[in-house]
Amino acid sequence: MQTKTLIVPLSNNRSYPIYIGENLLQNPDIFADFVTNKNKSKNKKIMIVTNTTIENIYLNTLQNTLAKITPKENIFATILPDGENYKNWETLQKIFDNLLANFFDRKSLIIALGGGVIGDMTGFAAACFQRGVDFLQIPTTLLSQVDSSVGGKTAINHPLGKNMIGAFYQPKAVFADIKTLQTLPKREISAGLAEILKYGFINDAPFLEFFTSENFAKIFDNNADVLSEIIYKSCQNKADIVAKDETESSDKNLRALLNFGHTFGHAIETYFGYGTYLHGEAVAIGTMMAAEFSQNLGFITPKEVAKIQTLLNQAKLPTALDKKVNANDLYKLMFHDKKVQNGTLNFVLLKNLGEAFVYKLNSAEENSTLIIKSIEKFIQ
Ligand code: NAD
Ligand code: GLY
Repeated sequence: MQTKTLIVPLSNNRSYPIYIGENLLQNPDIFADFVTNKNKSKNKKIMIVTNTTIENIYLNTLQNTLAKITPKENIFATILPDGENYKNWETLQKIFDNLLANFFDRKSLIIALGGGVIGDMTGFAAACFQRGVDFLQIPTTLLSQVDSSVGGKTAINHPLGKNMIGAFYQPKAVFADIKTLQTLPKREISAGLAEILKYGFINDAPFLEFFTSENFAKIFDNNADVLSEIIYKSCQNKADIVAKDETESSDKNLRALLNFGHTFGHAIETYFGYGTYLHGEAVAIGTMMAAEFSQNLGFITPKEVAKIQTLLNQAKLPTALDKKVNANDLYKLMFHDKKVQNGTLNFVLLKNLGEAFVYKLNSAEENSTLIIKSIEKFIQ
């Protein structure tokens, strides 16, 4: 399969490529431009940040590949514990400790090798270290290949809210190696599909037609052509939106549309503790709640809500909470979400299947009964 390239178009010379292909981790040529300095007078120090799981599967391969284009002694690694629970200050500090202990400077390069947790933390470390150093994303989960590695949102969690501390900081390039998905548990493939289907729900109805039973089967079978197609389409959708509203600040609230299902989803993650439901699973359940709320307000039809549920179920995602929870408590947690501005909460809702918009609630009371009803419907 030929490697596909997509550009995220940004201002001020910050545009960057996303490479989607097989065996990229074994390909020194694809990394060459990013690991050597322009004048080649001095080799960059490289810090690969990964976790204990990926270390055992892919770290050696990447180190050996990089060693073909830069001296081995320039390549360092920081191994973090694995899990959303560790996406916090304490873990972030380990990256800074290792960079400083090894005399990294502003010309160094940091590489995120892993899923969205590693990508978000490494990106934030790169944004902060010496006020910003170059970084590359090598996403190894489906979710990170189609969403978190693209667009420059970086963050860590706080016990009071997810991704509450972070920065917008773009990578220099993204390398999505489809082969890495072969070792990914199927539950994580499903989690990635939640974000992939999201692009169809909010922006690209024709994309949803691709998700036939046959193609779902091929996805779970690791079919490279089908995976590369859905990763490419997803990155294209995301790059288009990010190019128009990089920092989620346009009047049209364009980038905010990517948060469809996430206001409910983040509350679910915070309520149950990070990691109980995978991020993609929480988003899938949140998607149902947001779709139901859209329908309760008279926007989409029950048939469209049912179609969303069918697609999520075909992706083997949960569409209801199977654990005990009080809908009111979840509702209160949503007001800690980043989308709360001056006490108003922005919900991303669907006008039609394939068209999202931002719906502003002006107080915690407005439409609370309808929201709580939409949550309750998806508690088993
Ligand atoms: P993750 O990073 O926790 O990875 C999931 C699990 O898979 C981990 O145990 C990881 O070690 C393991 N893993 C990763 N790659 C593997 C591989 N190839 N083979 C075997 N195991 C592998 O989870 P995720 O779903 O990738 O990312 C979720 C995170 O991404 C959340 O923290 C979420 O907030 C964040 N996110 C960020 C953005 C953004 O725009 N920055 C967007 C969406 C999600
Ligand atoms: N995942 C939401 C965003 O990147 O804006």
